[in-house]
Amino acid sequence: MSKEIKTIGVLTSGGDAPGMNAATRAVVRTALAKGIRVMGIRKGYNGLISGDIFEMDAKSVSDTIQRGGTILYTARCLEFLELEGQQRGADMCKVFGIDGLVVIGGDGSFKGAEKLAGLGINTIGIPGTIDLDIACTDYTIGFDTAVNTAMEAIDKIRDTSTSHERCSIVEVMGRDAGYIALWCGIVNGAEDILLPEKENIAEEELIRRILQNRKKGKKHNLIIVAEGVGGSAELAQRIEKVTGITTRATILGHLQRGGSPTALDRMHASMMGAKAVDLLASGKSNKVVAFKNGEYVDFDINEALAMKKDISDYRMTVSRDLETR
Ligand code: ADP
Ligand code: F6P
Repeated sequence: MSKEIKTIGVLTSGGDAPGMNAATRAVVRTALAKGIRVMGIRKGYNGLISGDIFEMDAKSVSDTIQRGGTILYTARCLEFLELEGQQRGADMCKVFGIDGLVVIGGDGSFKGAEKLAGLGINTIGIPGTIDLDIACTDYTIGFDTAVNTAMEAIDKIRDTSTSHERCSIVEVMGRDAGYIALWCGIVNGAEDILLPEKENIAEEELIRRILQNRKKGKKHNLIIVAEGVGGSAELAQRIEKVTGITTRATILGHLQRGGSPTALDRMHASMMGAKAVDLLASGKSNKVVAFKNGEYVDFDINEALAMKKDISDYRMTVSRDLETR
């Protein structure tokens, strides 16, 4: 028989993402509505190991749904990669009476959650990362806000690039995944996108296209480079040297991780937070919440971590077709 959950802990781990607060809020309020106590754990697995843990009430999450970042703070915790650190985390759960834990983060954080589940703590993961790189789910909290932030920044770069008739290289985040780059390529109307998952066009061809565009009277040339491809500063130098067209590289960086979450992020975060508590309350453990084909579902963590996902071929084709001039 599954054990009754009396106290749930909640933490955010890995890179922060807009909407993490909305997810935390949903966990807290859903649990309280079910008569379950909630403990907030600061700074990810670091705070779990050190006991940086406090009781949360409904007011602890007031005025947070619209805030970027994470009120629980976040961290990458090397100690938790080892069994000793994981055991200290499980022991600390017992000290604070935490019998269920919600971990909001990415694949790395879910690996930690799986280890804790193996040590007797019921754990549920919620996908929170701007990178959209979690295979089991069609959506990860933070992606929409990050893409909108990048889109607005790139629109601004385009204004100045057009005025000066320059070529712009813009590098967007995503670690080893090109989702932000692909989306910005389409929504910003870029001339080219370079993604880590796909074979990209040769540099000679990229340069030929820039020169052809110039001949056709194009005033700007926007190339989106995914972080996983990198090298945008060097690419800009090479393009300028060969074409004689002034070329500037901009690395958007961490501004993509901040800001008030969009409605989409708040909605998914609220639903996923509630779902995580529902799963714990029904005795489930070692699961990840996912949004799949329009439904909120769950997968075993090991099953979720074994899944693979790739950039949609159709979006890729559309992106290429829309680049055609
Ligand atoms: P994300 O969760 O966004 O993928 P990371 O990969 O940085 O971010 O992982 C966040 C944290 O999760 C790590 O700092 C570590 O504490 C924990 N973690 C990552 N991988 C493992 C693992 N294999 N076993 C236990 N804990 C892990
Ligand atoms: O996973 C989110 C992310 O912003 C990635 O896009 C990026 O590669 C990484 O985190 C940056 O990490 P840090 O904040 O440690 O520089």
